[in-house]
Amino acid sequence: MGVSRRQFISEIGMDAAALLLPVAVPSAISAQVCAPPGDTSKPTAWARDCRSIQPRRPASTLTGIEITRLKAAYKAMRDLATSDPSDPRGFTHQANIHCHNCGGGGSVIQVHSTFNSTSLRFLPWHRAYLYFHERILGNLIGDTNFRLPYWDWENPNHREIPSAYNTPNNATNSLFNPTRSMGPNDVLDPTDGQPATALGQVDFNNFSPSLEGSPHGSVHVEVGGDMGAFDTAGNDPIFYAHHANVDKLWSDWMKADPTHLAPATAVWQNQTQGFFNENKVWMTIRNVDTVNHESNLRYIYSGRTWEFISWRCILNWRVFEVAVNVPRIRFLPAVRKELAALPERAAVHMRVVAPQLPVDKSASYFVYFDDRDAKANRGPASPSYAGMIPIVRMDREGRQKTTSPPFAEFEISPRLKYMLDRKDDLDLYFVDRKQRGGNVVVSKLAFRGVQIRVAREG
Ligand code: C2O
Repeated sequence: MGVSRRQFISEIGMDAAALLLPVAVPSAISAQVCAPPGDTSKPTAWARDCRSIQPRRPASTLTGIEITRLKAAYKAMRDLATSDPSDPRGFTHQANIHCHNCGGGGSVIQVHSTFNSTSLRFLPWHRAYLYFHERILGNLIGDTNFRLPYWDWENPNHREIPSAYNTPNNATNSLFNPTRSMGPNDVLDPTDGQPATALGQVDFNNFSPSLEGSPHGSVHVEVGGDMGAFDTAGNDPIFYAHHANVDKLWSDWMKADPTHLAPATAVWQNQTQGFFNENKVWMTIRNVDTVNHESNLRYIYSGRTWEFISWRCILNWRVFEVAVNVPRIRFLPAVRKELAALPERAAVHMRVVAPQLPVDKSASYFVYFDDRDAKANRGPASPSYAGMIPIVRMDREGRQKTTSPPFAEFEISPRLKYMLDRKDDLDLYFVDRKQRGGNVVVSKLAFRGVQIRVAREG
């Protein structure tokens, strides 16, 4: 394997590398074009799906025949966008559904960053989106058993974009997108696509935003180009494989523990999401109908996340507030003593509540306890590295404001001693992780609170 672009960039410096890369301009989407074509005023309610239950499989393990079928389906969808631009099943309209529901095109619906418990649309909306998209793709190739593949980026062997999506790496491949920053030889940064802290959350209201931030957001940022902003993300076929994996993580989380449930509120359960189906009929589906994907939406996942990550059944977290409405982390003597006495192998998370990051661009930020280390920006190799927080822009023109996440949570077991050994209060610093060399811009991270969370394992 050759030198990856990232290694290459770190050796020659970002500016020089930028000059060497072909400039791909992400597809522009104007305000009007992402509205759904056709009448959406009289929805038909989704009714039970009676196709056979089929597996979604990892994109990098598809057989040659499956890849051919996947490419044919996207080719048909792209062709439809050309032959009948008003057909809602065409690729452009399919992509624009995403734009429309992230605030682009004047939509009032926002499926991202909706962090309060009655409006957590992120997971059910994307599940329903993929479901209708998948049915349309299958219909276009006359195969009701067609299911989307997923990009299982948490698998250490699958850290590059699945090869079907860039082989060949040009427009003759219906799965290709010319705007990606990640090339065929690039692998995700080790801090991307790590679902363990999300999977360790005990309720949906914490699980959903945790999954949405990192790993979900960081993979958007890293693939880059169209994927790097929500209004254009649906233009890249890898989007659907990325989201199938996000969807799978929801499925895995639900299976991991009987207490892992979807929200029980009537408001959430009856909230509806609207899509055109394979017959161009505008349908609405309730959140509650998406929860059991196997019996209702007729797909299962062929593997489980915990084949690749160490999975603990965590029953509970003990929470130590170490910063409440103050801008610094302070350990009271009793807390310091208690944390210092923890067994060495204890699972310890640090949750930063309402971290304030720049929201005018898509980027992944490394967070450090020490400003000198932040300046050196060596990431997880640094003793004072705390974790990573991704920010994904809503739209390129900035009409819809991106918001900082409600919290970011880091696995800090190996850092706890470092934190406790520093006798003074601790600040947090953040750095765009792409910055290298002598001019790294370091900023102090503002937040509303910091918690140290210690797992009680069951
Ligand atoms: Cu709707 Cu991954 O974004």
